[in-house]
Amino acid sequence: MIPTIKWDNNCIAIIDQRKLPRKKEWLVCRTFQDVISAIREMAIRGAPAIGVAASMGLALGSQTITTENYEAFTREFLEMARQMKLARPTAANLRWAVERMIGIVEMMNHNAVEEIKGALKKESQIILETDIQINQKIGQNGLQLIPDNATILTHCNAGALATGGYGTALGVIRAAHEAGKDIRVIVDETRPLLQGVRLTAFELIEENIPVTVIVDSAAGYFMRKKMIDLVIIGADRIASNGDTANKIGSYQLAVLAKENTIPFYIAAPLSTFDPDLKNGDLIPIEERDPGEVTSFNGHLLGPKGVDALNPAFDITPAKYISAIITEREILKPPYKGSISDLFGSVLK
Ligand code: MRU
Repeated sequence: MIPTIKWDNNCIAIIDQRKLPRKKEWLVCRTFQDVISAIREMAIRGAPAIGVAASMGLALGSQTITTENYEAFTREFLEMARQMKLARPTAANLRWAVERMIGIVEMMNHNAVEEIKGALKKESQIILETDIQINQKIGQNGLQLIPDNATILTHCNAGALATGGYGTALGVIRAAHEAGKDIRVIVDETRPLLQGVRLTAFELIEENIPVTVIVDSAAGYFMRKKMIDLVIIGADRIASNGDTANKIGSYQLAVLAKENTIPFYIAAPLSTFDPDLKNGDLIPIEERDPGEVTSFNGHLLGPKGVDALNPAFDITPAKYISAIITEREILKPPYKGSISDLFGSVLK
């Protein structure tokens, strides 16, 4: 399985996902601003991977703070944390990771600054390693929802590359394959940045899991022909009522799945939930450069000057979601109750 991100002495090395699958190139981030750029420009992407990168980026940034005074250190660190949170707006994992790192600084208010810096680096490594274990648990929990001989539709990339490793939606698929289930995956290409054809197809081919790529607009055609048994995707943020933000195009897949009586599953860690958010309408949706739609690899696709809209995510209302697979349990509707029960028990 290809690694996503790692510490490389006092730098952070990120597999540059913009270049995959043609080139496996490490992008070396030497400063905390380098990490922000890598997240913004999607050298690293996928909600849990963004969280891991943010925690490492803050640990890296803390090394450059020169003061030994705790209050002055905290002031500079909080400013870095503020900037990091703005890197991409939709993924809940980014804020979750930043707040966890702030928690370390607050907890160590009687320690020397050097010790805090060491603890921040350690914490970022723990976040990375725990994320892999969490995804393996999601995989094990989700196994029961995957029948033998299933054809599974997925969208975008919710695999090892989108996380610390193993993946969420692809984690469930990987676990089913490892358990000996005979499965096939259909992935849509996922315009405009093609995470489906570039990254998901790449990961599945590496694992010898049969995969076929379709264009985004073909999903309904294959559902109606009864060639898809279930849909499973990841999430960027899940509100307290179960409404889920994920890659643009997820909503239409969910509606089509309901129309064709096909189960539609979300696989996500608890760090993707935003239990304080009432519903999906309150989730901020990232608007990206229209040039990502009108051009590809620097080549203009449309007429010069043509305008485009480029929301990176959409909201799937909870009523279309058959179940949400987490590392703790499989949540079933009505989500308002199941999510608040889950977070109630996590906080206890
Ligand atoms: O814009 P991206 O590539 O970061 O979008 C990624 C997705 O939408 C994923 O499905 C989501 O982050 C879950 S990744 C486990």
